[in-house]
Amino acid sequence: MTSLHALLAQMTLDEKIGQLVQLSGEFFLDEPQLTVGPKAKLGIAQAVVDNVGSVLNVSGAVKTREIQRKHLQNSRLKIPLLFMADVIYGYRTIFPIPLALGCSWSPALIRQCCVVAAREAASAGSHVTFAPMADLVRDARWGRCMESTGEDVFLNTQYVRASVEGFQQDMPTQQGLAACVKHFAGYGAPIGGRDYNTVELSHQSLFEDYFPPFQAAIDAGCEMVMTSFNTVDGVPATANPWLLKTLLRERWGFQGITIADYAAVKELIAHGVAADEQDACAIAFNAGLDIDMKTACYANGLKPLLAAGKISERALDDAVLRVLRLKQKLGLFDDPYRGVTPEGEQRCCYHPEHLRLARETAGKSLVVLKNDRQTLPFNPATTRVALIGPYADNPDIFGLWAVYGEKSRCTTLKTALQEAIPDGNLCVTPGCDLLLDYGFLGEFGATHQVEQTRCLTDNERAQELERALDYARQADVVLLAMGEHMMQSGEAASRTDLHLPRHQVEFIQQIAAVAKKTVLLLFNGRPLVLTDVVDHVDAIVEAWFPGIEGSHALVDVLSGKRNPSGRLSMSFPYANGQVPVYYNALNTGRPAHQSDHSPRFLSKYLDCPNAPLFPFGFGLSWHETRLSDLHVTPRLLPGGTVMVSVAAHNTSDVDGLETLQLYLHDCVASIARPALQLKGFTQVMLAAGETQVVHFEITPHDLGFYDAEGDVRLEYGRFRAFVGLNSASLLEGEFYYAES
Ligand code: GLC
Repeated sequence: MTSLHALLAQMTLDEKIGQLVQLSGEFFLDEPQLTVGPKAKLGIAQAVVDNVGSVLNVSGAVKTREIQRKHLQNSRLKIPLLFMADVIYGYRTIFPIPLALGCSWSPALIRQCCVVAAREAASAGSHVTFAPMADLVRDARWGRCMESTGEDVFLNTQYVRASVEGFQQDMPTQQGLAACVKHFAGYGAPIGGRDYNTVELSHQSLFEDYFPPFQAAIDAGCEMVMTSFNTVDGVPATANPWLLKTLLRERWGFQGITIADYAAVKELIAHGVAADEQDACAIAFNAGLDIDMKTACYANGLKPLLAAGKISERALDDAVLRVLRLKQKLGLFDDPYRGVTPEGEQRCCYHPEHLRLARETAGKSLVVLKNDRQTLPFNPATTRVALIGPYADNPDIFGLWAVYGEKSRCTTLKTALQEAIPDGNLCVTPGCDLLLDYGFLGEFGATHQVEQTRCLTDNERAQELERALDYARQADVVLLAMGEHMMQSGEAASRTDLHLPRHQVEFIQQIAAVAKKTVLLLFNGRPLVLTDVVDHVDAIVEAWFPGIEGSHALVDVLSGKRNPSGRLSMSFPYANGQVPVYYNALNTGRPAHQSDHSPRFLSKYLDCPNAPLFPFGFGLSWHETRLSDLHVTPRLLPGGTVMVSVAAHNTSDVDGLETLQLYLHDCVASIARPALQLKGFTQVMLAAGETQVVHFEITPHDLGFYDAEGDVRLEYGRFRAFVGLNSASLLEGEFYYAES
């Protein structure tokens, strides 16, 4: 075992500083002359590249081995590189986007997905993943809600813990990844839902709603924390000592590495808290930031700052030791290649068991939002189906952060349906464009010109509409595969209008007007406003961006092979103007549903209900569950337990997985409490006709809440307990928490 302190003692200052610099792949190309440009642009010397500690987003057994080999040749002390990558929801086997995974209500399933993602990425030479993303999101305008697991801190905390455990499970056998939880902190609440915008959150809300998933990640042994682009209390997270030292190190005992998000150190200048790159280097480093991602601030700034006594050598050594310690934990000093071979990568990626898991996960992550007239499921053997829409035969259903996904491997909905429906009973046509204007892709180079050529001409549009109407008239069921363009959600993809594009809405209404039965299938990365289509169709299935096996999973559900169990982890707004809308809001002094004030003077809108169109926790299945006989122990004493029981009866003739949700409301507290707070959930398999009595336990730990100092308050008094199938359909009971 390498003595890291002995190694540190041998290191020159340049070698130490190098460990705190992360560069992307263009500095490690086969032809060194091609790196002249990037080095000049970034303003770094070759010596920095030779000493660099980690590489961003390079993967593949052959490529990582070659870069590592060359690096070790130049490394005087043979300190291996760390390869870090965005393996957010899969490496080659792409799972559903995290917002979809959030709708599975199965942390165990998400853990399995992370184990598989880690194994595939590790087989390709990755060491660290920039995941899980732990940001709480209540604002569907923010494109990165696709990367979160939703609007509830309790649910997010379960998922983040499971993800860290999954990614890191196989680290000891070199088949796991070190996790890097992100983005610390508050990034999911930008004003206006506009990415990278200012965040204004009270400390009480930070402690209550935004920090717990990060604390859970750290308690689960997460190796790294990535700082967010935004300010907290007006100080950018990347240079915020309250976040990086007071909380992370002193209060939560985090021993791992802190890394800036992409170029966030240099962005301190744009934030107006640093005069230049050296100033940015000083305030970030002294705030507790270990690694500078993708800028030259640390590479060029740390040495002069040390010489000028503006940073301490002890702090530098501590940061370097944290990086070396992770390399040791990953076994890189014993084997810099971690046993990675092209053959091993080939064997691991797309393993049939991985694909099976992807199909199961996608089936458990999609959410049925409407199903009138028993439209679904249909019998694939006898039903004439028209599959119409821009997602009818489109492999682009991975979502934006499937960095290493290969669309060529993705089964389209058309293919999956052809496998299930006899020839002659399925007709397929795009019917209309996904978008009419791809200008928003302009920043991505020529992409928008390429995409724009995919738009139908006026003639083609007219012909497509006629063909689609003709197919719809002949079919027993029309499946309309619509949604967002894959790049309309994700990073830097904030939108102010959450409706489907006008031309899609009109198309849906035209087709539905002639169809016998119409099912709207949605491929999107955020909650949409569906108010203008919901009454025109018989059924709606929210498929999200479901990943490599998403089409098969969707057909499993549509054809009745799988009984859907997905439940929303984020509310679907009734209107754009409602956003942010979320279930666990405070009552206010003038709640719209109960107040002494006259109806005019209540907390409500003149032109829109307060309630979302589809609430948190909502989803339909092919079975029906009825809850009854809620019993709540009336008194909770310190150290005691309240037992909550409810009878869950499957009134249908179909077996089904049901997610029972436990919510609490603290009626009187020193800080106003949300009207509802998810405090537990359990999934029960109910056979057709079966009744089960389901139990929950509530302890005083469940009643505590944070104050602005981050201390937990636990107060006696009356609590309302609710159990339901979603946050808007609940049975209610109560109990008192008392001293005796
Ligand atoms: C991006 C994202 C972050 C990602 C990083 C590296 O800007 O904000 O989530 O991990 O850069 O790609």
